[in-house]
Amino acid sequence: MNSEGGTPDERSRDTWKANAAAWTAAIRQSRVDSRRITDPELIDVLAPHAPARVLDVGCGEGWLARKLAPLGFDVTGIDASEPLIHAARRLGGGTFHVLSYEALVAEPGRLAHSFDCIVCNFSLLSEDLAPVLGVLHARLEPAGVFVIQTVHPFTAAGEGPYVNEWRTEDFSRLGGGFPQPMPWFYRTFGSWIRELAAAGLSLVDCREPLHPDTGVPASLLLQCCSQHSADTILDRE
Ligand SMILES: C[S@@+](CC[C@H](N)C(=O)[O-])C[C@H]1O[C@@H](n2cnc3c(N)ncnc32)[C@H](O)[C@@H]1O
Repeated sequence: MNSEGGTPDERSRDTWKANAAAWTAAIRQSRVDSRRITDPELIDVLAPHAPARVLDVGCGEGWLARKLAPLGFDVTGIDASEPLIHAARRLGGGTFHVLSYEALVAEPGRLAHSFDCIVCNFSLLSEDLAPVLGVLHARLEPAGVFVIQTVHPFTAAGEGPYVNEWRTEDFSRLGGGFPQPMPWFYRTFGSWIRELAAAGLSLVDCREPLHPDTGVPASLLLQCCSQHSADTILDRE
């Protein structure tokens, strides 16, 4: 594993192998403070869709499947990181596959069926989202919901300029133990909207749950449907 070579996308993806143990511990020990707001917010969005087939894209150590399974969801998780998928399988709740977005784009048939809910929870970290969003959208049932939760562009802006750009996460706020810093692509709100439109997805709701201590948004939670089904609904009205 090389933290220096490769494109930012490749380096970003590889960090999740090197950092898998530290990430799994941080999530399972509730050390990611914002998760106490963003996890329940995501469940609140998904719960009304039960029972449903869910694709958890970039599922990490699998917490979402473990939360959704008791609610009647049938969850499939995919992730490029073998150690994270192994950690997810150990605790169960769903079916987990080692599958990178790049491999899925190259071979969309790797997803055997379509899904009622497709969820990307803090897992779209690349500059070019069009290929993976396109393939995922093709696997969304016509009346399905496509949910993206991500860092809020306002909260994450920090001292940097409000422009799309590669940044680096060193995970220092999570108590150390992360061997590799992670490149990730900071995206403005407008950029998210354009990515959705380019993938043929229509925004139906946007939540910005506030952190109770700071009053700043803990995340940006975008709920989308297929543009085709949005057109059908509008035609009927
Ligand atoms: C911040 S973690 C979020 C994990 C999980 N969704 C959660 O809510 O805890 C980002 C996840 O995206 C996955 N990921 C990033 N780039 C990927 C890629 N190109 N293909 C597949 N998975 C990827 C990583 O392996 C990692 O598990």
